[in-house]
Amino acid sequence: MIVLGIETSCDETGAAVVRSDGEVLSDVVQSQVKLHAPYGGVVPELASRDHLRNAQPVLVEAAARAGMELRDIDGIAVTCRPGLSGALLVGVQAARGLAWALQKPLVGVDHLVGHLLSPFLRFAKLESPAPPAYPFVALLASGGHTALYRVDAASVASIRELGATRDDAAGEAFDKVAKLLGLGYPGGPVVDRLAKEGNPEAIDLIWPMRRRGSLEFSFSGLKTDVMRWVEKNGRPGNDTTLRDLCAAFQRRVVDTLVGKAVTAATNEGAKTLVLAGGVAANRELRERALTAATAAGIRLVVPPFRACTDNAAMIAYAGAQRLERGERDVDIEISPNTALPRVTRKGRGERATGV
Ligand code: KG4
Ligand code: ZN
Repeated sequence: MIVLGIETSCDETGAAVVRSDGEVLSDVVQSQVKLHAPYGGVVPELASRDHLRNAQPVLVEAAARAGMELRDIDGIAVTCRPGLSGALLVGVQAARGLAWALQKPLVGVDHLVGHLLSPFLRFAKLESPAPPAYPFVALLASGGHTALYRVDAASVASIRELGATRDDAAGEAFDKVAKLLGLGYPGGPVVDRLAKEGNPEAIDLIWPMRRRGSLEFSFSGLKTDVMRWVEKNGRPGNDTTLRDLCAAFQRRVVDTLVGKAVTAATNEGAKTLVLAGGVAANRELRERALTAATAAGIRLVVPPFRACTDNAAMIAYAGAQRLERGERDVDIEISPNTALPRVTRKGRGERATGV
């Protein structure tokens, strides 16, 4: 089956043509990063308006790069949750219109399921690791989400959340710390680059929820600790202190993510650990996860960067699995929330068991 995927849940307008075995025939992403950069985060209304502007050209480009006419595809998959409502509506409306005009089957896809299945994508010109075998454990860490999942098959019913963040997502923490230090948006790549030249031991910051056994995360306390440090010592210039501060912050985020991810994979008896989401681009996360997973006898799979950040290819692949099972959605509703049942509640208060 050849499926057209459409993604507009946040600040990337994406369209892709993907075969149900994971081969990517085209993958077009129009990023809005520059549009939102002056605000230090995504502005929902600006995002919706930009999706509306970009949806058609991105769709046309995806078909052209795949060397196909849109009428030759076998089905359409679109992100319908979780995400910004106004942004999701643009993609879903485009998908419904196309499905009706072309008389093609349509399915809605949960964006998080797309991320979790991203290691199955094969890009023609990019080296991709061999796909994981089921069951696997995945750490999904992006600007909007940070959670661990057990994945038994390619469907919502076969994916279980093992633990998630109680407050900020890991990428959000990178972005907020970068904003605090005057480093621009998005913060991950620049903090990553500066941290490489710094000493993670030079500045003492708190460790975020390091408790062994708990698979929940919390990054807002660490962010506040960086804020307190800056209030006390002043914002560092472009010097060694800035690099040390980035290194200390990043080491705490990375070691917490890696420790809990390997614990989760071990608990679940999974032989493979997958890193997904934009934070999987982090150099230190990749290195330390590889060392820790190898020591635990677990295979680490990190998809190419383009598959980790938001894209429509992962949506097309996840949708293709649904379409192949004969599933169809007639009316697609959108939701700001994932369909994957959550075990971690956001905010303070009493927790579910196992914490
Ligand atoms: O998956 P993604 O493209 O978008 C969503 O949030 O869904 O992830 C973007 C996030 C941003 O918060 C960005 O700062 C972070 O991923 N990121 C990184 C790195 N590259 C991107 N975080 C840490 N280190 C990086 N190298
Ligand atoms: Zn995402």
